[in-house]
Amino acid sequence: MSLRTLSSLGDLAGKRVIVRCDLNVPLKDGVITDDGRVRASLPTLNTLINAGARVVVCSHLGRPEGAPDERYSLAPVAQRLSELLGKPVAFARDTVGESAASAVEGLQDGDVAVIENLRFNPGETSKIDAEREEFAGRLAAFADAMVSDGFGVVHRKQASVYELAEALPSAAGLLIQKELEVLDRLTENPERPYAVVLGGSKVSDKLGVIDHLLPRVNSLLIGGGMLFTFLKAQGYPVGASLLEEDQLDTVRGYIAKAAELGVELVLPTDVLVADRFAADAAFEAVSADAIESTPAGAAGIGLDIGPDTAARFAEIIRASKTVFWNGPMGVFEFPNFANGTRVVAEALTEVDGLSVVGGGDSAAAVRQLGFADDAFGHISTGGGASLEFLEGKKLPGLEVLGWA
Ligand code: 3PG
Repeated sequence: MSLRTLSSLGDLAGKRVIVRCDLNVPLKDGVITDDGRVRASLPTLNTLINAGARVVVCSHLGRPEGAPDERYSLAPVAQRLSELLGKPVAFARDTVGESAASAVEGLQDGDVAVIENLRFNPGETSKIDAEREEFAGRLAAFADAMVSDGFGVVHRKQASVYELAEALPSAAGLLIQKELEVLDRLTENPERPYAVVLGGSKVSDKLGVIDHLLPRVNSLLIGGGMLFTFLKAQGYPVGASLLEEDQLDTVRGYIAKAAELGVELVLPTDVLVADRFAADAAFEAVSADAIESTPAGAAGIGLDIGPDTAARFAEIIRASKTVFWNGPMGVFEFPNFANGTRVVAEALTEVDGLSVVGGGDSAAAVRQLGFADDAFGHISTGGGASLEFLEGKKLPGLEVLGWA
C-alpha cells in the first residue's frame, strides 16, 4: 500500500477538515524562538483554505501531563499562525469542550480554528487503547475528514496521530509527503559519495541509526558529546568530558564494523577543551588523544570539535553528493563552542547534491546560527521521527496512512 495523499479525500469545499500538525515549537517566556514548524505547516493549510475547507488545526506542545497547563498553551502559536497565513485564526481555549465546539461551529468555508493543546487531555497519550479511541472519537466529531501533517509526531501511537486517522477518511498532508520523499532518498539508492554526520550528547540515542546506516554510507563523521565515547573506546583519556561507559563495547563494535565494510569512520583529531561547563570557560584546542586535563590542571571537558577536525569534516561534506546531519558538533549555545557546528552547517550549504539537516537540536542550531532554511536541501521537522525513520522502524502514524 502507498501513502494516501490529499487528492484521495476528494472535493473538500464546505467540509470540516481536522489537521494534525506538529506545532511543538520552542517557547521562551511565552515567545516562540523558532517558528520553523509553524511555517512548515503552511502549504497544507493554504491548500485546504484555497479548497474551501473549514479547517480545524490540532497539535501538542511540550509534555503537559494530561491536564491544562498555561505554560503549554497553543495561544502564541495560533497567533503566529494567523500572522503567517495573513488571516484571522480562531482559538479555542479547550480541546474538545464548549470553546472548541463553538470555534468549529463558527467556521465558514476557508476559515481556520486552532484548538488547545491535545495533551491537556489524558486520552491523547494514554497507553490504554480504549481511552485513546474515546478521545479520538471526540476529536473526530468535529470533522468530516482528517489530514495528518505532523511529521514530528508520526513515531508516536497517540490518539490524534493514530486513532483519529482511523476514525475518519484520512490522508497525509504535503509536509509528511515531502519529508518522506527526502528521507527515502537517504535510505534507498542515495547518490554517492554519501556522508552521515552525527553529533549530539549521547551515542545511546543514535545506536539504531548507526546500525541501519553504517552499511549504507561511504563516510560516518562523529562529533558532539558522543565523540568522547568513541575516543575512550580507542584508549584515549577524555578527562571530565561526557562519557557513556556502558556503550564502550558497542562503539568498539562500530569501529570494527566500519573497517570491515570499508566505511570511512571519521573521528575528531582535535577538540576544544574547557576547564568547566560554562559559556565563559577558559579553553584551548588540544589533540584528541590529550584531553586528560587543561594546562591549569583541571580535568578537561571537551565542548566542541577542534578547528582541524571541523575543516576535515567540511572537506568530506563538500565532496559528498548526499549528506545527512543530525546533532550539534559542540555546545553551540555558547558562542565559544559553536564553531564546529557552524563550519559543518556551512559545508552542508555548499553540497552539490542533497543535504538534509535532521530536526530537533540541529534544526534549532542552524537557525540560531543565522542560516536560512533554503540554504539546505531540506531541514526535517522531525527530530525523533526522522531518526526512527532512518533506523528503518515502522512508524504508526505513517502505517495508518497506508505507508508500508
Ligand atoms: C518533537 O519535538 O520531536 C515532536 O514534537 C514530538 O514530541 P514528543 O517527543 O514530546 O512526543
